[in-house]
Amino acid sequence: MTKPVLFSGMQPSADSLHLGNFVGALSNWVPMQEDHTAIYCVVDQHAITVPFEPASLLERTRVTAAQYIAAGIDPERSILFVQSAVPAHAQLQWVLSTITGFGEASRMTQFKDKSQRYGTDTTTVGLFTYPVLMAADILLYQAASVPVGEDQRQHIELTRNLAERFNSRFGTTFVVPEPHIMKETAKVYDLQNPTAKMSKSAESDAGLLRLLDDEKVTRKKIMRAVTDADGEIRFDREAKPGVSNLLTIASVLSGSTIDDVAAQYAGGGYGDLKKGLAELVESTFAPIRERTNELLADPAELDRILARGAERANELAVSTLDQVYERVGF
Ligand code: ADP
Ligand code: NA
Repeated sequence: MTKPVLFSGMQPSADSLHLGNFVGALSNWVPMQEDHTAIYCVVDQHAITVPFEPASLLERTRVTAAQYIAAGIDPERSILFVQSAVPAHAQLQWVLSTITGFGEASRMTQFKDKSQRYGTDTTTVGLFTYPVLMAADILLYQAASVPVGEDQRQHIELTRNLAERFNSRFGTTFVVPEPHIMKETAKVYDLQNPTAKMSKSAESDAGLLRLLDDEKVTRKKIMRAVTDADGEIRFDREAKPGVSNLLTIASVLSGSTIDDVAAQYAGGGYGDLKKGLAELVESTFAPIRERTNELLADPAELDRILARGAERANELAVSTLDQVYERVGF
């Protein structure tokens, strides 16, 4: 019995992954290795679609890959690799771009958001065609399942449309993937601005919990998290976004329900909830941080792991690309 193929990835666009990446992506990827052929990619080619520092990109790629492994992605069982090491991604993107409507691509809301954020002077064709590269990432591996956040739903729809279009125009070639949208309950918010999602793109660093931050920094950020004046520990996303966010994080990291966490701290002050949460976050992050640092201490071994992953990915990718080229008439 062959297991369904799953593909997912993250950009190496920060020095550390953050709690949102862990809760919304990485921690879910780990158990999915059980019943899937899981392919996890560090999508460095996506990272260069917005302003970036060449001097730090390679290091960030290594650090991101190390955090995947440290959090429990097993590079023996799963395929772990860096996108730019497998040329078929860019090659398939070209073919897919020729069946993507200009209007269709123009409707991608993430492009609109990002091009607004970075300004027209730095908005590139690469940013515009980003979703086509993402479609190539997924279709190359004949992935049936793509775990992503809600913000990626539109890109997965595009991927499905491109797969169906190619299949009907050139003959069945691609598996049409299903989105596997992560639950809203797994969304965490900025500690200083708890109606905005926790993001590496936040203006201030104070609301962002990084996996690789040391314990003191993390504790300070949690103790300073924005709450409210009523003093009551209760989940209410609308009226009490700050406290609700703390309860959500505690619930996800402890595996208890939000009600149980609220009951545990009811009657106490916000300080107790924050102290408990700081301990929980640290007990989650500490082993990941330690393992990441061990992996980074031996870059040659890490590069060997990634080269082996790229070799395995390349084998699958080339097999799909060969079919595509044949169908197209190359
Ligand atoms: P960022 O918002 O920091 O730029 P990305 O967009 O690169 O993060 O997201 C990478 C992965 O992490 C995606 O799967 C996304 O859904 C998940 N993710 C990012 N931020 C959060 C969050 N605040 N809560 C839950 N999941 C998140
Ligand atoms: Na983002």
